[in-house]
Amino acid sequence: MEGIKFDFNNMFSANVGTAHGVEEEDLLGLADYAQEAHDHLKKILSDPKSRVKLNLEWANLPYQDERSIREIQDLAKSISVKYESVISLGIGGSYLGLKAAQDALMPAYYNEFSKVRKTRPRFYFEGNNLDPDTLSVLLKNLNPKKTFVIVISKSGETTETKAAFMAVQDWLKKAVGEKYGRQIIAITDPQAGSLRKIVKLEQEKDALSFRSLPLLKGVGGRFSELNMGLLHLAISGVDIKEVLAGAKDMFMKCSRANYTENPAYLYAVLHYILYKQKNKSLAVMMPFSEGLKSTADWYVQLLAESLGKKYIRKIEFLADGSEAWHQDKNAVVNLGRTPIPCRGTGDLHSVQQNNVEGENNKVITFIRVEKFRNEIKIPGKGDILSAKRFSELLTLAEEATEWALVREKRPNCTITLECISPYTWGALLFFFEMATAFEGELLNVNAFDQPGVEGYKNYMYYKLGKPGVSQGIASEIKNHPLVKDPKFIL
Ligand code: PA5
Repeated sequence: MEGIKFDFNNMFSANVGTAHGVEEEDLLGLADYAQEAHDHLKKILSDPKSRVKLNLEWANLPYQDERSIREIQDLAKSISVKYESVISLGIGGSYLGLKAAQDALMPAYYNEFSKVRKTRPRFYFEGNNLDPDTLSVLLKNLNPKKTFVIVISKSGETTETKAAFMAVQDWLKKAVGEKYGRQIIAITDPQAGSLRKIVKLEQEKDALSFRSLPLLKGVGGRFSELNMGLLHLAISGVDIKEVLAGAKDMFMKCSRANYTENPAYLYAVLHYILYKQKNKSLAVMMPFSEGLKSTADWYVQLLAESLGKKYIRKIEFLADGSEAWHQDKNAVVNLGRTPIPCRGTGDLHSVQQNNVEGENNKVITFIRVEKFRNEIKIPGKGDILSAKRFSELLTLAEEATEWALVREKRPNCTITLECISPYTWGALLFFFEMATAFEGELLNVNAFDQPGVEGYKNYMYYKLGKPGVSQGIASEIKNHPLVKDPKFIL
C-alpha cells in the first residue's frame, strides 16, 4: 500500500549496540513463536463467534457495508446543516479516537474560524472529566437551540459521561422544551445498558427523539473509532470511506504470516524483544506533527489498557470451536510497557533530555509527515532560516532527534506518512491496533479487556450508593480503607 512506511533500523544492535538493540539472530529466533501467535490470531479473527465474544470484532470494521455508511452520512448532513455546535460526550474509548480524528483530520483552529470549518458545526468534547469548569463555561456560552449532542457510552453507566449527559439534557430541556431529545443521538450498545434503555423509553414517546447508532457487539471502546467515530467524521466533512479504505489496506498488509514482512508484527516483535530482553519498559510515542498529538494520546489508551495486565491469559477451547479467555489467577505477571505521549518539536525542549540522557529504558516511535496541508516559507535573506520551509525544518528536526538518540544508543523507529489524510490516518490507527493485538498474543495476555479500570469505578459506585454493587466489592472496600497518617500530611 502507498502512503505509509515503517523504518525499524534504529531498533537493531547494528545502530544502537548490542546492549540496547535487537540482534537479527534474536529476531529470527522468534520465528516459531511468531508463527504460533499469527496462527492463533488468524484463527480467532476468522471465527465470528470468538470475534464477538473476545472483543475482536474491530478487525471487521473496515468492511462496513455501503448502506450503514450512507445512513451515517445522511444523518451527519442533517445535523451539519442545522446546528452551529456539537457537544460530543464520552470518555476513554468513547472519546480519544474522536479527539484524535478531530485534531488530525480537521484543519487547525477548526472551531475558531467559520471559513476554516466551511460552515460546519464546531465540535466540543465533554464528559471525559469531572472537572466542572469546562462544561460550565460551555453551557453558559453555547446556544442550546443551535447545539446538537452526541452521547457515546457502551455501558451508559460511566460516571463522567453520565453526569455530563444529565447536565446537558437539563440545559437543553430548559431551553428547547419537551422536544429537546430531537437534538440528541446516543451511540451505545445495540441491546444492553442503561443508555439503550433511555433510548427505548424516549423513542416510545417520540420516534424522532434520542435517535441512536449502535456500538457494535464485540468492539471494545479503544478499538472502536471506526465504529462510533464515523458520525463525528461525517459531520466534520471527512470522507469516511477513505478512512475505512486506509484501514482495510493496512489490514491486508498486516495479515501477512511472515512477521519480517508484516509491519504490525515486526513492530510488536521488536518491542517485545526490547521489553523482555533489554528492559525497555517505556513506550514514547512522538509524532512530529501538531495534528497527530491526540493520536499519541489515543495510542496511550490502546497500549495501556490492552497490554498492562496483572495476569496472563488462560484459553478455554469450547465445544462450538470458539474460545473463552480467563485470567490465570495463579500467574501474576504485571506486564505491559508504559506509554508516554510526546510531540515534536515542542517536547524536544522538555522530555527529550530524559529520552537522551535519562534511564535507557524506552523505545521511541516517531511519526513523520512528508507533506503538510499548508506550508510557510520563511521570508528574508541572509539568515540560515531564510527561504527554508517550516516542513523542511520539521523533517530535519526529526532526523536530528533520531541521530541524537542513536548516538546515545536509544532504540527508536519511524513511521512516515506521505501526508495526513483520511486514508493514511485510518491506516495508522489500524496498524497500531494490529500491532497491539499481536503483542497481546506474544505476551499471552487478554488485550481486549480492562479489568484494572474497574477498581476506581467500583469504589465510586460503592461510595455513591449505587444499587447492585456486590457484597464482595463492598467488603473489600470496607475492609481496606485508604490509610492517611496525619504525620505525613504537611
Ligand atoms: O476501552 C474501553 O473499553 C474503555 O476505555 C471504555 O471506552 C471507557 O471506559 C468508556 O466506557 P463506556 O463507553 O461504557 O462509557
